[in-house]
Amino acid sequence: MSTVYMPPSIRHFEPLHMVFSTWVDHLPFGYDLVAALRPKMLVELGTHKGLSYFTFCQSMKENEIDGLCYAIDTFEGDEHTDKYDESVFNAVNNHNRQHYHGFSYLMRMYFQDALRHFNEESIDLLHIDGFHTYEAVSEDFANWYPKIKPGGIILFHDVQARLQDFGAWKFWDEIRGQHETFTFNHGFGLGVLRKPGGDRSNDPELLKLLFEEQTEDSCARIRAFYVHASKHLENTRKVKRLQKDKASNGAS
Ligand SMILES: C[S@@+](CC[C@H](N)C(=O)[O-])C[C@H]1O[C@@H](n2cnc3c(N)ncnc32)[C@H](O)[C@@H]1O
Repeated sequence: MSTVYMPPSIRHFEPLHMVFSTWVDHLPFGYDLVAALRPKMLVELGTHKGLSYFTFCQSMKENEIDGLCYAIDTFEGDEHTDKYDESVFNAVNNHNRQHYHGFSYLMRMYFQDALRHFNEESIDLLHIDGFHTYEAVSEDFANWYPKIKPGGIILFHDVQARLQDFGAWKFWDEIRGQHETFTFNHGFGLGVLRKPGGDRSNDPELLKLLFEEQTEDSCARIRAFYVHASKHLENTRKVKRLQKDKASNGAS
């Protein structure tokens, strides 16, 4: 990296929707990727309590991006998240209505059933974060790849999670060499894949850093940057919480 990389997550990003999720380490990257890509159509497979999805939506709104977002989930859970109750969907639905009304839509259904609602080559950014067995991730990728625009991006969460019968790591290991990809290793791993084609003449800086300027050193720097960015965000939130507690203790 020859220039100073100062993305929007560093300048102004305070997550509006904090819930427990292993996605927490990727919030700055998710926010910056949306700001850089300016997607007309964003789709998430697997939303649960909405940590990743609402980070994307927040970036759409704060960076004044004119696009549509869809969160697809049964909102019932699976064998890895365990089954959960209606309170999860209700909280996600309320937050969505309150903050992202008019451009963000929840599709409460199986991924398979949602396919027919999307045209071929219509999606700019897809996040695959559903059931994490090798078979499920392979199927999600095979089903949804044709829906991605040339030059569009697919994110895969948990490509470094080697627990239970998780198999995203195995699938990622198989396909990463056959595509243009970048791998974050922290936060259970986040794979970034770019579909061939599209107009790349005006690629944003983040995409250049991820895909065009790949040397061992540049990859290590961008990985380190986003590890630090997520730690910075976590520490900032801790400090703000402490200040708030102190202020409310002082007031009582
Ligand atoms: C790992 S969680 C998603 C985590 C979320 N992206 C976050 O930021 O925390 C996986 C979700 O995928 C959903 N899911 C798994 N398989 C599915 C399928 N075939 N169709 C619809 N939803 C599915 C589950 O209900 C669960 O809520």
